[in-house]
Amino acid sequence: MSTVTLDTITDAVINHGDKGESNPRLHEIYASLVKHLHAFQREVNLTTEELEIGRQFLTRLAQPSQDFPMGEIHLMTDCLGISELSVLIEDKDNHGTTEMNVEGPLYIPGLPERQNGDLMGEIGPDDKPMFVRHKVTDANGKPLVGAIVDVWHPNGEGFYYVQRDYLPEWNFYGRFRTDANGDVWFRTVVPGDYSVPTSGATGSVLEMLGRHSYRACHVHYMIQAADHEPLT
Ligand SMILES: [Fe+2]
Repeated sequence: MSTVTLDTITDAVINHGDKGESNPRLHEIYASLVKHLHAFQREVNLTTEELEIGRQFLTRLAQPSQDFPMGEIHLMTDCLGISELSVLIEDKDNHGTTEMNVEGPLYIPGLPERQNGDLMGEIGPDDKPMFVRHKVTDANGKPLVGAIVDVWHPNGEGFYYVQRDYLPEWNFYGRFRTDANGDVWFRTVVPGDYSVPTSGATGSVLEMLGRHSYRACHVHYMIQAADHEPLT
């Protein structure tokens, strides 16, 4: 029986199985992940006590909360730059077209269809009304007719509707379609900037690292058109 040592454990874990015969891509990712995780443990001399703190942290990340009904795993990958890096890798051969951006954790499939010119949500007393018009074109500037444009953003207070019970369903979420000129337009409010909730696992780590938790105000888009790559 072979004995696993400090020098052999990484290869032992990677090669325990069919070495990618049944799923080469999964094995490629798995082998690299194990290699880098083990290297990280060695580099920081991770103690068993610290590992346990890490396990509890990951468990907390997966718990749903009012602010993140699907848990905070997506948020944490955003805060670690992992989401952005994946987008940059995927978008690296993009020349001259609008660059991709992270989807964020609060895209919800099944957005309600809205008509050009519609008001997207409830205007609060302190909100600043905003009119938005966009033209969707292909890489050569030719307008794309009938492109699907999903739009979502927080209200003027900085809350997406799923984060507060008092907000109406689909507040400032909507799906539009470009007209014969490739245009979409809608009425909405200037979204509030918002902080990542510091009550959760992600917020507490940001605080301990001395990182601020605010995001500049922004509007999310996801655009799909026939025969074209989707754009977020
Ligand atoms: Fe956002």
